[in-house]
Amino acid sequence: MKNNGMILGLLGFLLGAFFTVATALAAPKENPLPIPPLLTNQSSDPAVARFELTVQKGETEFFPGKPNITLGYNGNLLGPTLRAKRGQRVEITVHNSLREYTTVHWHGMLLPGSEDGGPHQVVAPDSDWKARFTVNQPAATLWYHPHGIGNTATQVYFGLAGFFILDDEASEKLDIPREYGVDDIPLVVQDRRFSSAGVLLYNTTMRDIMYGMQGKTLLVNGAVNPYLMVPRAKVRLRLLNGSNAGFYDFSFEGNKKFHQIASDGGLLTRPVEMNHLPLSPGERGEIVMDFSGYGPGTVLYLRNGRLPALKIIVGKGKKESPPLPEVLAVVPPLPYTGTETVRRFTLSGLGRMVGINGRQMNLRRINEQVRLNSTEIWEITSRTGMMGMMGGGGNMLHNFHAHGIQFQVLARNGSMPPENERGWKDTVQVREGEVVQVITRFQYPGDFMYHCHVLEHEDNGMMGQFRVE
Ligand code: C2O
Ligand code: CU
Ligand code: CU
Repeated sequence: MKNNGMILGLLGFLLGAFFTVATALAAPKENPLPIPPLLTNQSSDPAVARFELTVQKGETEFFPGKPNITLGYNGNLLGPTLRAKRGQRVEITVHNSLREYTTVHWHGMLLPGSEDGGPHQVVAPDSDWKARFTVNQPAATLWYHPHGIGNTATQVYFGLAGFFILDDEASEKLDIPREYGVDDIPLVVQDRRFSSAGVLLYNTTMRDIMYGMQGKTLLVNGAVNPYLMVPRAKVRLRLLNGSNAGFYDFSFEGNKKFHQIASDGGLLTRPVEMNHLPLSPGERGEIVMDFSGYGPGTVLYLRNGRLPALKIIVGKGKKESPPLPEVLAVVPPLPYTGTETVRRFTLSGLGRMVGINGRQMNLRRINEQVRLNSTEIWEITSRTGMMGMMGGGGNMLHNFHAHGIQFQVLARNGSMPPENERGWKDTVQVREGEVVQVITRFQYPGDFMYHCHVLEHEDNGMMGQFRVE
């Protein structure tokens, strides 16, 4: 099963070779940005959201005339956007039509361990799995993706990922852009590597194992060289770093200012003005950019570092665009008494030997026992040291994600985190030598994962389990 990525890669290669004239990869034409469709709720009861997802194999031409075998939910690549409201009962049936097992994990969702879609909730080939939970958390941009032991990285790389948007009453009353696909745009950004024949490549070098799989081509919602027409008004971009291992830093040309309005787990207390937004794998950030001051036809690039990610074309006309609300949400700081259990997690190791606290993932081992409804402080640090640098290419980059919870960042190296990290988070970047303290409450019972969200690190064992009971 571990080799599925290789098999896919090989099939893609053969397909690519078959259909390819032996020339260098033609510069890809511009593609209209695909917007993942909203998945239809099958329930007529407004208290219930019922969805059906089929995990399937498909074919995608990232470059014209160069088909690749890819994976998708209900389609060839990526998945539809699921949407539910706080208080709603959610029922999702997942059907796996692949020849290898998968799981579907609801990243960022607060729910019992049995519904989480982690490595324990295996969906075997040709079988179904049902997840049932009630949404009980603030409006947020969450996402879903596979989580099998040893096959997460390849399944995500070849296309399995989708958005899961949550709404709540408070956020629906806010005067912020909310028209899906019009002024409220989901953007999953993923770097990928292509051969000169337009074949999607996976794991071709030692470096890919060390640092995780990275590529020079950015896909946004699965498209190469995408462009998006936006209204001449404020526009909300829900950014998701859906890459395997790329640490991104988003900005607009000329470092134009924008506001971040939400982090992983929901709206921030108030809009935070910034000119760049770092997102590590798995992290989300909602930003609002005001295009009302630009003339019709103005072109602006959203970039990752210096690399253009999305060409934005300002439309005609002008929509009324009220100023952003001064207060977006209430994020009550978790009460901190000093008597909380403190647990320490050290990310370290090299190559296939990456681990947490010197241990590698073992499905039969519960690493941490947590009391239901308790509040704890988790202290995460990354220590690769000189060895990482000797591997070539500088320090190993890691982050930390935990299932079934949203946390608040108390401190980075003893000081307050930046303003945009003072809301709900489920994934944080942890720089080499840095100590990141987070506080959280454990509201749901079950077995959950914590891990580095660099997917090759996760698959190689940089993951552990905690049991809440
Ligand atoms: Cu986004 Cu354990 O995963
Ligand atoms: Cu998760
Ligand atoms: Cu890592």
